[in-house]
Formats: sequence, C-alpha cells, structure tokens
Amino acid sequence: MAVSARQSVKEAQQRQLPWVEKYRPQNLDELISHRDIISTIQRFMCEDRLPHLLFYGPPGTGKTSTILACARTLYAPREFNSMVLELNASDDRGIGIVRGAILSFASTRTIFKSGFKLIILDEADAMTNDAQNALRRVIEKFTENVRFCLICNYLSKIIPALQSRCTRFRFGPLEPKQMELRLQHVIKEEGVSVQPDGVESLITLSGGDMRRALNVLQVIISHCHCLSFSTPNPCELYIARAQQCDLV
Ligand SMILES: Nc1ncnc2c1ncn2[C@@H]1O[C@H](COP(=O)(O)OP(=O)(O)O)[C@@H](O)[C@H]1O
Ligand SMILES: [Mg+2]
Repeated sequence: MAVSARQSVKEAQQRQLPWVEKYRPQNLDELISHRDIISTIQRFMCEDRLPHLLFYGPPGTGKTSTILACARTLYAPREFNSMVLELNASDDRGIGIVRGAILSFASTRTIFKSGFKLIILDEADAMTNDAQNALRRVIEKFTENVRFCLICNYLSKIIPALQSRCTRFRFGPLEPKQMELRLQHVIKEEGVSVQPDGVESLITLSGGDMRRALNVLQVIISHCHCLSFSTPNPCELYIARAQQCDLV
C-alpha cells in the first residue's frame, strides 16, 4: 500500500476510535493527575529498582494509562510485545491463567533484553483466592525476571500476602480543574462546540472518572453536535439513554 493510502487508513481508524482510547495518554508527561505517584515511579525506573506495583482506586482515574505509559518508557516499540504481558478483564481470572500464561511468560527469558519483563494484571480483584495464592508463589519465584503491576478498584479484595509484596499506590478521583483542561483539549482537537456550563455539568456528573466524562461527551456530541446544559436541549435525555444502554 502507498504511504498516503496507509496514512488515510490510519486516520480513518483514528476517527472511529472511542475517545477514551484515542485520547489515552501515550507518555507519562501527558497524564494530567497523580504527579506524586508518577514521579515516585519515575525515580524507581531511573534507579533501576522498580518494585512490584499495586494500583488501586475508582475507575477512570488513570491506573491502566499510567502503567502503559511506564511500559513505553521502559521498552522500545520493537521489544514491547516480548517484554510486556497485559491481561485485562476479558481474560480468565482463575488459577488456570496463573499456571498457564502468567507462569510461562514469567519463567522464560527473552533474547532481546537483559532486564526484567512486565506483567500487567488489570482487574486483579476479580481473581479467585486460589489464583491469588498461586500468583504470590510466581511473584516470589520469578522476581529476578519479571515485575508485576496489579490493578484493582478494591484493595480489600487482594489477599494480604500479595499486597505486602507490592508497593501500593492509590489513584483518587481526578480534580475538576485537571478534568476541565483535558476535556478542553479533546473538545479543541475534535473541533466541536461546547458551552462552559456543558463542561461544568460533565465534570459534576462524572465525579472524577475521566473515562465516564469522555464517554458521555462523545455520546452527546454524536447526537447533538454541541453541548450546553442550561439551554433547553435533549442532552440530559441522551445521558440517561446512554446510561441505560451501558455506554457510559
Ligand atoms: N490521569 C489521566 N490523564 C489523562 N487522561 C486520563 C487520566 N486518567 C484517565 N484518563 C482518560 O480516561 C481513560 C480511562 O483511563 P484508565 O487509565 O483506563 O483508567 P483506570 O485504569 O483507572 O480505570 C483514558 O483512556 C484517558 O483517556
Ligand atoms: Mg483500567
């Protein structure tokens, strides 16, 4: 395919992406919140002493984005797939996955790089207790070769033996001011019309959850092409409908 054709396919794909993916921060500088957590992790990475990590807190606060941005800092694009294993909600959470995919990734060294690999275990709180106990043993055995990042909403659902093997970071809800700046950035990039009171309502509605804010904004824009909450318009209806359809 010619370069320009490839470029336009890429652009079309970009246009169709959900905004939460299209505007997922690609590097640590692009993340709008939790600077203290990010600078601590950056220091760990610079000093080559990254511990196992446990990120917890409500949804849409940047947990997955932060670890993916860290992974992009640690690994070049060509080594990414061989060095990073990302398991998310769609993967099985039973003991089978620990004894299978996780164990085999953790126990094999790669020819590319001498350093450690990274296993990102999203929604770790959905793992059974048996699976968490098996994971604890894998962590103990392969710490030389691999670092884990466990991500969850509820810390209390992670067994204490796993918690104690990780350095824990709590991701709180995003600040309204931070959300506003990021939403303005998206609005500008998309070239859409949004009244200030629309942004304000969006921030209130989403309660510090950036995923929710972006999803609601995208759904509304796709229906109304503008967003204002004080003038009579069907936006609230769309929000209600989007919520009913589980879109947000
Ligand atoms: N700190 C942040 N800075 C910029 N965008 C963010 C931030 N946190 C969340 N987002 C936006 O919300 C989306 C969901 O974030 P994500 O990292 O998947 O949240 P979590 O893993 O905490 O549920 C991201 O794709 C991004 O667009
Ligand atoms: Mg996540």
